[in-house]
Amino acid sequence: MIQTHLAFRTPGMLPRPGVLPTGRKLSAPRRILSKHAPIARHPFSTGFYRFSNISTTTRELIESKLSLSGRVTVITGGSRGIGLTLAKTAAALGSHVAILDVHEPETSVAKLERDYGSRFIFHRMDVTSKDSMELAFDKVIEDLGKVDNCITCAGIALDKPFLEHTWEESRRILDINVLGSFFSAQLAAKQMVNQGNGGSIVMIASIAAHCAIPAQRVSIYGASKAAIKLLGKTLAVEMAPFNIRVNTISPGFIATKMSAQFTDLQEVFRTAPPMGRIGQPEDLAFAVGYLLGDGASYTTGTDIAVTGGLHNGRIEI
Ligand SMILES: NC(=O)c1ccc[n+]([C@@H]2O[C@H](COP(=O)([O-])OP(=O)(O)OC[C@H]3O[C@@H](n4cnc5c(N)ncnc54)[C@H](O)[C@@H]3O)[C@@H](O)[C@H]2O)c1
Repeated sequence: MIQTHLAFRTPGMLPRPGVLPTGRKLSAPRRILSKHAPIARHPFSTGFYRFSNISTTTRELIESKLSLSGRVTVITGGSRGIGLTLAKTAAALGSHVAILDVHEPETSVAKLERDYGSRFIFHRMDVTSKDSMELAFDKVIEDLGKVDNCITCAGIALDKPFLEHTWEESRRILDINVLGSFFSAQLAAKQMVNQGNGGSIVMIASIAAHCAIPAQRVSIYGASKAAIKLLGKTLAVEMAPFNIRVNTISPGFIATKMSAQFTDLQEVFRTAPPMGRIGQPEDLAFAVGYLLGDGASYTTGTDIAVTGGLHNGRIEI
């Protein structure tokens, strides 16, 4: 894995802490590599990294395949949680970023621009409103000129017994999670087709698209995420002639405000995954970084499950 070849460094050989996409401070490097190893900017920090034990050619290849330099990434639901971390990830890899959300970003765009050295814009957008979405995408083109990547992350959850689900709340889940993601992807794809250079769309599904999950009753939510997982396949095939790739990521239990609302389930979130911990938003960063970049140019219609193994079942109970 690439991570085993990375160590964080500053240009002057002085290790210094970096800042992860979550805003968490990264402690100083534990391993100092040969000063002859080539140096480059690390995608997830304001520090620097070195590849060791790999040739310059391989290093350059990996860097070019990971780089999103000069690209524009649109992310729905990017104002907090997983979406904000993925917005920071795209910026750390060199992309300009448009956050589209009903709420203001938890970190101001001015601070994001200072921290990541990329352009950030925010437009208020409700994925249940056609007019709001078309206006927001128009503004992205006006401000940033194009759309190369789109991450559909806006979503809401509902944990409730099947027998108690109402029409209203079930319809809202489908409106936001399914139609919101579907039409966000469509607006992005229309722009990409007009541009003629292809693009990458990553849609955030869920472990609930794969199976029932421990201690929660999420039937309509699971159905909405299963729809997204299938859209990742069908849209991938339909959009392939335009060189537009469509993939999905299925997170397991991830520590965000969405999962924090289930206060009585925190122990389950920690112990249920075979890896023995809840996931952090940055556990998804490398998956999205891969899918957005040219390194994934032959990867489309796939789902990456990042669940600590939970979608495969359990042996211990
Ligand atoms: N946290 C988890 O454990 C987990 C697990 C699997 C999948 N997911 C999925 O990941 C995505 C992000 O989840 P999160 O945990 O960061 O949640 P979150 O609640 O922290 O963030 C969701 C974001 O979506 C935005 N949003 C909600 N409704 C919207 C609308 N109508 N229009 C535009 N934006 C809207 C919110 O304002 C918020 O910024 C969701 O699609 C969720 O279903 C989360």
